[in-house]
Amino acid sequence: MVVASERLSIERIRQNLTGQIIGRQLYLFGEVLSTNSVLARLAEGGAREGTVVLAEGQTAGRGRLGKVWFSPAGVNLYASILFRPSLPPSEVTVFSLIASLALFDAIQEEGVTPAIKWPNDLLVSRKKVAGVLAEARSSDEQVRRLILGVGVNLNIEGQALVAALGNAGLAATSLREVAGREIDRSVFTGRFLTLLDEWFQIYCAKGAQAVLQAWRDREITTGRRVEVREGSERFDGRVLGVNGGGDLVVQDSHGRTRKVASGEIRFLD
Ligand code: BTN
Repeated sequence: MVVASERLSIERIRQNLTGQIIGRQLYLFGEVLSTNSVLARLAEGGAREGTVVLAEGQTAGRGRLGKVWFSPAGVNLYASILFRPSLPPSEVTVFSLIASLALFDAIQEEGVTPAIKWPNDLLVSRKKVAGVLAEARSSDEQVRRLILGVGVNLNIEGQALVAALGNAGLAATSLREVAGREIDRSVFTGRFLTLLDEWFQIYCAKGAQAVLQAWRDREITTGRRVEVREGSERFDGRVLGVNGGGDLVVQDSHGRTRKVASGEIRFLD
């Protein structure tokens, strides 16, 4: 059973929202299929950069690699943010890095120590608490719009994660489980969106390299032995690092250097 916490409040989110662009337009729904899908429709209708869609719950929340994102109502954060960058599609990865940096800072403000696991999972006590799903629409080698979808387990109980996800639930946790107290979802949401705006401003002022360097300082994947799953392929190796395009660079057990653009890893050490 999922025990709901206090409802999200637009007013209280706004009290904690001080960014320049993100959250200029803010929509809060009860239950939707997916906040990314709702925002995609708004984007087609001309929504401005920085528009945010939030929902109390999702009935068809999407995770990376075609997975379902468990999205019970009233306990967590489900947010989508619209960007309209002038970039070729090959360069949008930096936006996922920006999202994970903002999540890192927002989690740290709650007094909990996070870590980033490639590509953009936020871990606490070695378990996943948050993830990022970037969905871009491009034409003529130009990104027309980019939606960053962010899910954070804030107040869901560990038991509920296991009941819903089985063994996969054991690899997940929530900030409440780790902090030992309820997380104020409206404050967290406002602070996360403000921090996202700050990292976006850093990117605009200093470029992708500054973001990548900050991200590298906070990631725990480099140097680890991992199992890589990329589509139907699996291999073991040691992570050499993450290149400028956001690909994971792994030395496999035959000594070959391989680049992984999109996939999943499991730590072996
Ligand atoms: C991951 O697999 O780690 C990414 C999870 C992203 C989930 C969020 S919840 C809000 C937004 N709407 C969705 O349908 N997915 C993202």
